Amino acid sequence: MVRTPTPQDRFSFGLWTIGWEARDQFGDATRPALDPVESVHRLAELGAAHITFHDDDVVPFGSDAATRDRILDRLKGALADTGITVEMVTTNTFTHPIFKDGAFTSNDRRVRRYALTKILRNVDLAAELGADTFVMWGGREGAEYDSAKDLFAAHERYAEGIDAVAGYIKDKHYGLRIAIEPKPNEPRGDILLPTVGHALALIAKLQHGDIVGLNPETGHEQMAGLNYTSGLAQALWADKLFHIDLNGQRSIKYDQDLVFGHGDLFSAFATVDLVENGFPSGGPQYTGPIHFDYKPSRTENMDGVWASAAANMATYLILKERALAFRADPEVQEAMTASGVYELAEPTLAPGESVADLLADPSAYDELDVDEVASRGFHFVRLNQLALEHALGARG
Ligand code: GCO
Ligand code: MN
Ligand code: MN
Repeated sequence: MVRTPTPQDRFSFGLWTIGWEARDQFGDATRPALDPVESVHRLAELGAAHITFHDDDVVPFGSDAATRDRILDRLKGALADTGITVEMVTTNTFTHPIFKDGAFTSNDRRVRRYALTKILRNVDLAAELGADTFVMWGGREGAEYDSAKDLFAAHERYAEGIDAVAGYIKDKHYGLRIAIEPKPNEPRGDILLPTVGHALALIAKLQHGDIVGLNPETGHEQMAGLNYTSGLAQALWADKLFHIDLNGQRSIKYDQDLVFGHGDLFSAFATVDLVENGFPSGGPQYTGPIHFDYKPSRTENMDGVWASAAANMATYLILKERALAFRADPEVQEAMTASGVYELAEPTLAPGESVADLLADPSAYDELDVDEVASRGFHFVRLNQLALEHALGARG
């Protein structure tokens, strides 16, 4: 039996996920538009704790001030009625044709100034609604052709834009942190900051990088053939895992945005294991919301939309139960010891030992029986089988 989610589980959904009308490149919408107020109520009934949204998901692009205030008042009413909170806000800088060559990195400076203004106005809204995280997914920051962009200037403008927003957040004393969301391609042929590693490298060069981190998405790393859990791990190591977008992806192809676990299920187990249990020898752990960024498949009607929202949470809770049992199992701990998993936490140089000391230590090199050391079996396959058996519920 899968237990029912509660707000303590910290589940969060983008309004654009359940609200997707399922219009794609080849076909029209298969579902009606969803009122955000209804979404808030339905998500609360399902046991979610938070929502997230793009400015335009709630207030249609180009609305006047009076319309905006009326819409936001209705949303605030639904939040107050349900106890749902807004944990993250993000900006749509990809739908309107003005953004066809990007926002912060459009070749047209007028577009860059418009985009920065749109984002800064949305930062005010995020702060007003009490969000902690401001996500930046640069969906159209990229190109189809290598000749189309001065890529040095593009990185300069990208960094300038992010620093301008981070500086604004600091000036206003807002309790917000920026989380950059990498993606390798789609809708552009190639997107700037395609992976977790690329984004980390850019953050390291920012003036206000202390409040800039990452929002890695499962499918986006997997579209690049990368290991999502490894990406989360490096972001954690760098103290930059500010937010997560969980979903499902089956191999290197278009962005599928499937339900979490409906793609690479065993990888999803590893993700939940890291999020819930942390690293085997301790270290930083993710404590933020469990946010789903998926799309209910185009084949589904509204009943299917809500069933798929529930499916994300159910899958997560099942995997959480399995991951806790995995780490608590003495046989697993013994297997991890045999595999040297805990040994890796021991520094290579002893306390106070210098590189000169190492070079002078005959036991490290000249006298080491390399064949004997090389004969060690790491037993990773046995450990992986234990993980698989726990993931499948075949063990306690
Ligand atoms: C995508 C992205 C988006 C972003 C969203 C928040 O591939 O479409 O994942 O859904 O997460 O725009 O910035
Ligand atoms: Mn996606
Ligand atoms: Mn996303």
